Amino acid sequence: MHNIQLAASQIIQQVLVDGRNLNQVLDESLSRKAVWTPAQRAALQDLSYGTLRFYGQLDALLGALLHKPLSDRRIYYVLLVALYQLQYSKAAQHAVVDHAVRSAQMLNAKVSGLVNAILRNFLRSQDVMLERAAQHATGRYSYPQWWIDELQAQYGERSAAMLEAGNQHPPMTLRVNQRRNTTADYLALLNRHNLSARLIEPDALQLDKPVPVDKLPGFFDGLVSVQDAGAQYAARLLDVHDGMRVLDACAAPGGKTAHILERAAVDMVAVDKDAKRLQRVAENLQRLDLSAQLVAGDAAEPQEWWDGEPFDRILADVPCSASGVVRRHPDIKWLRRSSDIAGFAAQQLQILRALWRLLAQDGRLLYTTCSVFHQENEQVVAAFLAQQPDARRLPISLANDNEGQLLPNDQHDGFFYALLQKIA
Ligand SMILES: C[S@@+](CC[C@H](N)C(=O)[O-])C[C@H]1O[C@@H](n2cnc3c(N)ncnc32)[C@H](O)[C@@H]1O
Repeated sequence: MHNIQLAASQIIQQVLVDGRNLNQVLDESLSRKAVWTPAQRAALQDLSYGTLRFYGQLDALLGALLHKPLSDRRIYYVLLVALYQLQYSKAAQHAVVDHAVRSAQMLNAKVSGLVNAILRNFLRSQDVMLERAAQHATGRYSYPQWWIDELQAQYGERSAAMLEAGNQHPPMTLRVNQRRNTTADYLALLNRHNLSARLIEPDALQLDKPVPVDKLPGFFDGLVSVQDAGAQYAARLLDVHDGMRVLDACAAPGGKTAHILERAAVDMVAVDKDAKRLQRVAENLQRLDLSAQLVAGDAAEPQEWWDGEPFDRILADVPCSASGVVRRHPDIKWLRRSSDIAGFAAQQLQILRALWRLLAQDGRLLYTTCSVFHQENEQVVAAFLAQQPDARRLPISLANDNEGQLLPNDQHDGFFYALLQKIA
């Protein structure tokens, strides 16, 4: 276990100190561990994600347990991981402590006694320590203070439930490829493979327990994809029909592009600024036996790639803070700064304005983010509408709706949708 703890502590350090993306750091770490078993790999993922999910609380606990700052900062990350295990995992407590001592010894022989003392002190006074950690909002909710303040200001009493929803393990939701099978048929196929799931949206099945994709029957043959139910609203709201010309302007990795193509035989142009990520669109479409014209380009500079032919439908799934999907990406809570939000909003408005020129008369543009901050959502759309007399907002109906703002819950992540039509 100590190798896993040590690797997790190094991953946490790279995210928190170097500001690196958790997925990338974890992938790099796993690629160096070819001999590790699937169970060890899964454990490393759990320790890395879990520690970052509850980092606010674990950091507050360590603050209460440490009487002076650690001389070797690497030990702080080992302690964070061990506290996560003691608080949230089923691992035997004595084993967690013993292995943390070994992990620390491998880094710095002088501090192993201190690690032992701190963790045993935590176990002796766990309830008191947890109460102390919860005295401040960051320790109670495990989000930065600015984020908690922002949600409280915007959502009032509902903010606590939103913060807690973001700390849950995300459900695994499937999107059934309607070109290949019905949702009912695929549910029956899952059941025959001893996998249980329930229908939560017309194309969406939520698995009772997440499984690796290679355990999903027909995954590699394109029967099904993995996609949050909230993301599956996009294709439906866009109301696509056979023969339409559709632009997906921020397409990678292609989840929504593929869903649109599964629902109608449209002429699709899929653009993304990141050519490497665009490759993932190609792979996804190939697996699903779908096709689109793929363009590496900037949605804010369409003159560089647009052929002048207007689009009937445009999906603008713009870059955003991703504050609605933190249960899938807990590192986001610690990597974002409050000052980033205004930057995202400016970029979003710029993309929205640029894309509007590409929309046909009577055509529809769906603006979407996976954020819960009004600044990137309602306020961008309001600023756009205030200056665009040929745009009107169409009413949309969503479950758990709050004017297009889906709040994260046990069925879906947090998303925002605004449907705009070009009028004369
Ligand atoms: C939220 S993700 C899109 C997710 C995708 N629609 C899906 O459902 O799989 C946002 C994407 O926008 C891309 N992006 C960021 N800035 C862009 C820009 N100026 N023009 C085009 N794409 C951009 C990013 O590379 C990223 O792939």
